[in-house]
Amino acid sequence: MGERLAVVSGGGTGIGAAVALGLATDGCDVLIVGRRGDVLLATAERLDAECGRTGAVRAVSADLTDPEQLGRVVEAVAGRPVDVVVNNAGGYLGGDTSTLAGTAAHWRANLDANVLTAVLLTEALLPALRRPGGRVILVSSIAAQRGGGGAYSAAKAALHGWAYDLAGQLGPEQITVNVVSPGYVAETEFFGDRMTPEGHAKRVAATLVGRAGVPDDIAAAVRYLASPAAGYVTGQVLGVNGGSVLGR
Ligand SMILES: NC(=O)c1ccc[n+]([C@@H]2O[C@H](COP(=O)([O-])OP(=O)(O)OC[C@H]3O[C@@H](n4cnc5c(N)ncnc54)[C@H](OP(=O)(O)O)[C@@H]3O)[C@@H](O)[C@H]2O)c1
Repeated sequence: MGERLAVVSGGGTGIGAAVALGLATDGCDVLIVGRRGDVLLATAERLDAECGRTGAVRAVSADLTDPEQLGRVVEAVAGRPVDVVVNNAGGYLGGDTSTLAGTAAHWRANLDANVLTAVLLTEALLPALRRPGGRVILVSSIAAQRGGGGAYSAAKAALHGWAYDLAGQLGPEQITVNVVSPGYVAETEFFGDRMTPEGHAKRVAATLVGRAGVPDDIAAAVRYLASPAAGYVTGQVLGVNGGSVLGR
């Protein structure tokens, strides 16, 4: 058994899978959560093999926008203290905004996917968080800081304000709460079929380092904030964006 327990939402793919592997490599047992059970199981098997520890990564399927399904995560934690919660599930949801009803549905979908998933998972695990020493990490987006995604930008920005409140609430118990804000990260399911060679080139050109991010870039930041060494860092937004947005 690992020394610490981490729960990573959206851990079946992309950034979340890289975070899960990183935390497992750092000695955590990791519970990955998402909606697609088959994807999660395949990832858990792959990450176990990659970190060389059988059973290091376990999967639980739950739609984190549905309060009724959170019980599955709490059950899988099985009374063990939770050292790290990484709220990474989310994404940009499109929709027909030509009517007010469509606009409402589009905004609700983006708020549900990016805010409610994080709020419900964190609230469900709050009683189980390690005191002192727990870590809550929220994955937002560069879109929260510079716009560009409409309802998605607004939803990710909402995480920042909530993180500041949560950091204040949990600070006296020595639990830290921080946001990691990724810039453009290739090699995930985020863009689906929306990415074009021109879109990729434009995003790379907007960085100072001249390349796209990869999931491991984001995982490295999450691993630091999740570590015992980061106990004096709370209520912060860490941009990991190749310099596309400076110092915010
Ligand atoms: N890639 C980028 O350029 C980029 C940039 C800035 C921020 N981000 C953010 O980084 C995070 C990870 O994205 P990614 O790039 O790794 O894309 P991804 O591969 O699409 O990962 C998103 C994950 O979230 C899970 N998820 C979505 N809705 C969920 C729900 N209701 N309940 C449970 N799990 C849910 C998905 O699994 P299921 O579909 O199986 O549920 C999937 O594993 C997202 O929050 C995204 O907004 C990405």
